Amino acid sequence: MKEHDQHQRSTAGFSRRQFLKGSGVAVAATAMATAAIEDVAVAESESHLVPAKANAITLNVNGKDYPLQLEPRVTLLHCLRDDLNLTGAKDVEDGSVAGADTVLLDGKAVHAGTIFAVECVGKKIRTVESLRNGAQVDEVIAGFVKHDGLQCGYCTPGFVMATRAALDKKPHATIDEIKHLLGGNICRCGTYRGILQCALEIAQKGDA
Ligand code: FES
Repeated sequence: MKEHDQHQRSTAGFSRRQFLKGSGVAVAATAMATAAIEDVAVAESESHLVPAKANAITLNVNGKDYPLQLEPRVTLLHCLRDDLNLTGAKDVEDGSVAGADTVLLDGKAVHAGTIFAVECVGKKIRTVESLRNGAQVDEVIAGFVKHDGLQCGYCTPGFVMATRAALDKKPHATIDEIKHLLGGNICRCGTYRGILQCALEIAQKGDA
């Protein structure tokens, strides 16, 4: 072999080995650097994670004041269900029974899962539990039973409260007004006919 060829081969071999070796080192170095950066990022983000502080608040629910210690992130729905054991308003996430978490806030129908409990300080909260007093039930509940306005019943507490709010707002509501006022509630069982009959009968009570 000529001296020139030998030199070329040995140079090419050296370069290839060196290149591969260098590449491996570079990959390892990049991975280590990335991991180090991620570690720093996690450490920095964790250093900013301050545990939420519970605040002392008082909520007026169904006419009674409740002193509570609540973190700002707690919704009215979870406060009612978890802290006050008022489980009438339902926790629904899939939207198929939207409005099952309906309660009244200063007389207005609201979805309790969309409101923070701390926002309700100083307001009057009313849940479906307030519509029953021993054996006595509100006319809306009686109407739901009479007109078969429920099947599985999951949406029912929310619909009852929405109906109560609608009739409080418009005691002589027309069927179109009732439909509009109940528009924020959905029943996956399709019991609308009975619900509307109930609301309309109450709205027309005394009319003649
Ligand atoms: S979702 Fe079943 S009765 Fe409305």
